[in-house]
Amino acid sequence: MPATPPNRLGLTASGLLALCRAGFEKEVAAELDDFAAGIGLTGFVRTRPGSAFVTFETHEPVAFADLAERCDWRTLIFARQLLPWFARVDDLPERDRATPIATATRNAGQRFAQLMLETPDTDEAKQQSGFCRRFTVPLQHELERIGAFREGAKGLPELHILFPDTSTAWLCAALPGQAALWPMGIPRLRMLREAASRSTLKLAEAIFTLLSETERNASLRAGLRAVDLGAAPGGWTWQLAHRGLRVTAVDNGPMAPSVMATEMVEHVRADGFTWRPQRPVEWMVCDMVEQPTRIAALVADWIATGRCRRTIFNLKLPMKKRLEAVEQCRALITKRLAQAGPFELRFKHLYHDREEITGYLALRAAAV
Ligand SMILES: C[S@@+](CC[C@H](N)C(=O)[O-])C[C@H]1O[C@@H](n2cnc3c(N)ncnc32)[C@H](O)[C@@H]1O
Repeated sequence: MPATPPNRLGLTASGLLALCRAGFEKEVAAELDDFAAGIGLTGFVRTRPGSAFVTFETHEPVAFADLAERCDWRTLIFARQLLPWFARVDDLPERDRATPIATATRNAGQRFAQLMLETPDTDEAKQQSGFCRRFTVPLQHELERIGAFREGAKGLPELHILFPDTSTAWLCAALPGQAALWPMGIPRLRMLREAASRSTLKLAEAIFTLLSETERNASLRAGLRAVDLGAAPGGWTWQLAHRGLRVTAVDNGPMAPSVMATEMVEHVRADGFTWRPQRPVEWMVCDMVEQPTRIAALVADWIATGRCRRTIFNLKLPMKKRLEAVEQCRALITKRLAQAGPFELRFKHLYHDREEITGYLALRAAAV
């Protein structure tokens, strides 16, 4: 056995692993292939429809330190998690899974500071989640015993272990801050009854996923103004009102009394595609279910004409050619903003999204 792993990044990676919603493997595979090529990796993508995860295996081993720096989970639209992987352990014996995993970790010659056991988001794999909870502490003790783990040590990577089934473990690593904010990329957000609809969780997740802390602090402050297009019954409006923003909620449908009770909301019954504010606002959010190009044109127009500084919006995608639909929207926004200056455009398929993705758009000059 090699000596106790040192406190530095000596790890060699074998590829990348991404998690997604089941049914979106094809999109992640295409994105992962592009991403790998873009950072100079050669290798091949592997996935199975419905498995909710995709791997990229490099032809040659890669230094983890180089790969991990560039491996930000936000980069891929359809991935909930993106990690460099360094070992796959097959044929785990049911009675002792810890020993082969600990051995593979030690053989990798790396010490870790945090341990996360994850599964893909499928019914079959989620049957492992009870096991993952029970197994975390004993495995951590075993890793500590062999010198491959020092809890909370600064500068050391996180160890993520993915169990797609009872007998296989993918060993992955991430630098702090590069992996998804939540295990498996699944946020555990609590829905408050007064928040009116479960859609409220989508905007809450978008705020954490698509904005930096600086952007959140600058733009979600008491006293700022927002417009919510397609607001009823008010889950998104509530997220903004709850943070102290005054919201104009545009929808012909009724708003929930609990949202109106915040006294931060004006309800306007109008068409969200033609209604415009009398003066500029900080935020426009849009959850109208429409053709994605129509929504993209609308949000680009609000930004280009300075009606809002930033926007979060949903794009409902077709069942097929989803990536093409996203690129069509990106091209449309880029064209509309050509004269307006550089902009930030971010897309993510959030945990709370189904057949849609969520976007963030702001001019760089206007937004922190
Ligand atoms: C998915 S729901 C919005 C849910 C909302 N974000 C929430 O959290 O409660 C879509 C809403 O868009 C509204 N809508 C659709 N087309 C619209 C239009 N042209 N103008 C205004 N509202 C529209 C619908 O009435 C519906 O209430």
